[in-house]
Amino acid sequence: MTIPVIIDTDPGLGEVGSDIDDGLAIALALASPELEVLGLTVVNGNVDALTGVDVARRLLRRLEREDIPVVLGATAPLTRDMESVRALFAAALPSTNVSSEGRDLEGPTTTQHAADFLSEQVAARPGEVTVVAIGPMTNLALAMERHPAFAQEVKELVLMAGSATTFAQNVTTVGDFNTYVDPEALDVVLRSGAPVRMVGIDQTSRVMLTRDDAARLRRSPSPFGRWAAECADAWIDYLGRAFPARVEHQTACFLHDPLVIAALTHPELLTWEGAEVTVALAEDLTRGLVVADRGLALTRPAASSVQVATDTDVARFGDLFFERISQV
Ligand code: RIB
Ligand code: CA
Repeated sequence: MTIPVIIDTDPGLGEVGSDIDDGLAIALALASPELEVLGLTVVNGNVDALTGVDVARRLLRRLEREDIPVVLGATAPLTRDMESVRALFAAALPSTNVSSEGRDLEGPTTTQHAADFLSEQVAARPGEVTVVAIGPMTNLALAMERHPAFAQEVKELVLMAGSATTFAQNVTTVGDFNTYVDPEALDVVLRSGAPVRMVGIDQTSRVMLTRDDAARLRRSPSPFGRWAAECADAWIDYLGRAFPARVEHQTACFLHDPLVIAALTHPELLTWEGAEVTVALAEDLTRGLVVADRGLALTRPAASSVQVATDTDVARFGDLFFERISQV
């Protein structure tokens, strides 16, 4: 029996200077016989939401899956000013490209808002539909605010967010990108009572795509594999220029979001533990910090009890990812 799933995403695969991992996660999901992908809901994040819709449409065409709806969601975080996030990247990157201004963008396949699409799909099959959220959590929070039953009717939320075993450190010292962009949204999700599993950046940054992997993909029989290899090389080049002090970025990039798809199809590849999870919202250095308390007593009640990933079988994930992606 397949798992019906909606992927909530901020895809930038193919955009200059944008993370490729959402696109690879979508391709992995579509190559996974365990999953029935009901739709892609797009959220502001790696790229602005309209660009993300365009990227998703083009990707689905490339993968010959234009039957899958692409739905536009939040164009900004719940409260944070996105300009400050873009500025952070503009400072770090020589020529960041976070929108496709000037290009004719393909629009969503429906005028429905992602929050309503999520809720409608889940309500149609209560207790059956899983949502994998691999961008900022804004669309999920809006679905919960607009449709109070959503949190009870969704089977499970599998999130790429925070870090359960150490600090995050891909945007600030404490924040992973998805949490940093919209911590208020993650807070709404954690407090909703929905069943949550969280894969943090402590795990996702252990799974990498190297230049050698890209070379292997380039030799794969599928046109998608060859194109993905080009995108990966371009992204690694970009990371190397943008972050010269980070050794890992000179030869590789992270497969953050694909690991979250594997967490759904092959949960046994990760170790899971219960934790009391809270996200810091104060306007200070800790903003966006996810605290996953796995046994210590917090000084105040946590936002939620969730399952967090605390270890990953990196080798087996790599085998699964490259086997499936090279056959797309
Ligand atoms: O923090 C990692 C997350 O932000 C991933 O979803 C990836 O797409 C990145 O940009
Ligand atoms: Ca993402």
